[in-house]
Amino acid sequence: MLIRRPADITPSDITSPEHFRQRRQLLRMSGAALAGSVGITSLTASAAQALPARLSPLSTDESLTGRKAVLGYNNFYEFGTDKEDPARNAGVMQTRPWEVRVEGLVARPKTFGLEDLLKLAPLEERIYRLRCVEAWSMVVPWIGYSLSALLKQVEPLGSARYVAFASHYDPEIMTRRPILDWPYQEGLRLDEAMHPLTLLTLGVYGEVLPNQNGAPVRIVVPWKYGYKSAKSIVRIRLTESQPATAWNTAAPEEYGFYSNVNPEVDHPRWSQAKERRIGDFLKRPTQMFNGYAEQVAGLYQGMDLARFH
Ligand code: MTE
Repeated sequence: MLIRRPADITPSDITSPEHFRQRRQLLRMSGAALAGSVGITSLTASAAQALPARLSPLSTDESLTGRKAVLGYNNFYEFGTDKEDPARNAGVMQTRPWEVRVEGLVARPKTFGLEDLLKLAPLEERIYRLRCVEAWSMVVPWIGYSLSALLKQVEPLGSARYVAFASHYDPEIMTRRPILDWPYQEGLRLDEAMHPLTLLTLGVYGEVLPNQNGAPVRIVVPWKYGYKSAKSIVRIRLTESQPATAWNTAAPEEYGFYSNVNPEVDHPRWSQAKERRIGDFLKRPTQMFNGYAEQVAGLYQGMDLARFH
């Protein structure tokens, strides 16, 4: 993966703690009114559309990374490998209509339209830390609900152990360079996918997802390196054996299947002990499981996390 330093992003891109607190209070006050009443029935691809959501208690209290950075400093290699490429190039992707097929080892395979997904469960704002494998991080106000709500709909069979995600791939508008095996693929163990923190994500910063962030629907797994969070997904498949994933296939020594954020397990080419929060000058120590150890460490009890990296 190419490493570029976010030198172009200044501290002014960061939402001030005061602004953040006020906004959070506002969201709390309006949360009850909004809960369960998200009246989104139709969406157009043209303008960004507001996506009301109540603030989730699973959110971090840390200051948000500025909207400009979240929407302008991206990894979406289908649209180019520079951080500015996705915002520049992804606009051509048609995200309406959109369907996600959920299949494999399930009792009720089903194709969900975007409108179904928007109504499946109450939308929540989940403010999560995002730690990229390239040793930078952000704090992002995603909008969505736990992926488990979707998976329960299709009734996973007892034999299902993994969940594979496939992103949209259209060589007419996306790169044809064989940087990775397209379409982009990712995967989780079923218990990871069912964990409440794993988010089926439909929005960010109060709006439907912009294309560069993985419109119209993506996954966000906050305790894993960012590449586990597949964008613009069109297929979810439950399987018995561990699915192939894009980065693991490209360089298995560098990108493990688990990819849990772990300051003690270095990438072969750089340390993971510290990270640069976008907008900060100084680096900060990286936290085990990206700060979500209390919630997720139990998933990996007895596992050698250096071997299963
Ligand atoms: N999904 C697809 N389809 N293609 C990608 O290149 N990049 C991943 C992940 N999902 C990627 C993807 C990586 S490396 C990161 S860090 C996050 O998306 C970045 O998400 P963001 O641009 O919304 O911050």
